[in-house]
Amino acid sequence: MKLWSGRFSKDVDGRVNDFNSSISFDKRLYKQDIEGSIAHSQMLYECGIITDEDRKAIQSGLKSILEDVESGKLDFSSEAEDIHMNIETILTERIGDAGKRLHTARSRNDQVALDIRLYMRSETDDISEELNKLISAIVKIAEKTTDWVMPSYTHLQRAQPVSFAHYIMAYAQMFLRDRQRLADCRKRLNLCPLGAGALATTTYPIDRYMTAQLLGFDGICENSMDAVSDRDFLIEFCSDCAMIMMHLSRFCEEIILWCSSEFRFITLDDAFSTGSSIMPQKKNPDVAELCRGKTGRVYGSLITLLTVMKSLPLAYNKDMQEDKETVFDCCDTVKMCLSVFTPMFETATVNKENLRAAASKGFINATDCADYLVRKGLPFRDAYKAVGRAVMYCEKTGKDLESLTVEEYREFSPLFDSDIYSAINLENCMLNRKAAGGPSPESVKIQIENLKKANELI
Ligand code: ARG
Repeated sequence: MKLWSGRFSKDVDGRVNDFNSSISFDKRLYKQDIEGSIAHSQMLYECGIITDEDRKAIQSGLKSILEDVESGKLDFSSEAEDIHMNIETILTERIGDAGKRLHTARSRNDQVALDIRLYMRSETDDISEELNKLISAIVKIAEKTTDWVMPSYTHLQRAQPVSFAHYIMAYAQMFLRDRQRLADCRKRLNLCPLGAGALATTTYPIDRYMTAQLLGFDGICENSMDAVSDRDFLIEFCSDCAMIMMHLSRFCEEIILWCSSEFRFITLDDAFSTGSSIMPQKKNPDVAELCRGKTGRVYGSLITLLTVMKSLPLAYNKDMQEDKETVFDCCDTVKMCLSVFTPMFETATVNKENLRAAASKGFINATDCADYLVRKGLPFRDAYKAVGRAVMYCEKTGKDLESLTVEEYREFSPLFDSDIYSAINLENCMLNRKAAGGPSPESVKIQIENLKKANELI
């Protein structure tokens, strides 16, 4: 028998029952549902709406349900539709009439909004912590590699020398912003909708601030209609997660390239690589590929939610039940990806010699060669042209800028002298890029310190 069966003359059709039921997925909210009900019953008692006896019966009944669910003794039924009605039904079976008083001054509309906010609060914290671990792993490697020269790229063509530390710190900056975004999302998420009732609060003398405080919220949702119909915080959360996955997929892409035979910049630990069923020589970066691929599901969650919420009139509509599966999948996916990506990255070996060897090809010191002429008085545009011709000459003759003689250099500009070689030495090129935010070891050290401070503030 449905809790809402009073005004109906027939039982609901079995197909409707299955279609409508959300227990198969919202059972994940059991803990939050019980926590919310304990706070609600406490507030009902403090405000003189239920007796102390009822309060005690409700609270110990709810605790016994929690224990039984956690020890696997209790199973939910799809007959009771969702987690809220399941728990209320079981409670009433256990404690009788007091159980029927729990839903006083409450609706499933504010109840579900509460449960999902509580759930998302802890998921947001978990993901932020996973990001924190990843940032720490990056920083640890960066601290050891501030003078490991490698090429940087634009258009995937070798550009200018940077250090491995500088390269990976770019990712630390992205993940720092992701943590900041989650912290910002949490502010709007951490407001209590309970007491909004179905949509217009209640005539009982409730104290919404009390329940908000009991549940660790920063305040209440100020408009009862908004309280039950707002899912912005889920959309913001999924948008933040989409951004995390976008960043992670870029990092994954680099790692996949870096461990190919063409690059050999890093070697993944065997424990974080996989083999092929047919090609005995293969060692594949499946973890990075799978993280890259799972980005699609997270983008999907964001689009699903935006589309579910589009054009919904106020206030609660059953469409909104569709928020859960997708947001749960989003949480699971992001957490899983981060928790396996971080140790994969941490345990990889960075091949210093190969980074250096790649940096010494591709004329990545050509800008420095031009800057040398500028220091000797040539306008930058003329210097750029002279070095361009020198590069063309090198390509034709199979030389590089380091191996041209001073005589050869002078064909392109009389300003060249023997001090050109130290000016285009790759280590010097990197060292001399001392501008704030640049790749010189001292700049990168400052960057690392600033990032650590900003990360601690979250
Ligand atoms: N299972 C529902 C959901 O997830 C709970 C709220 C139902 N409220 C209602 N009036 N039917 O959205």
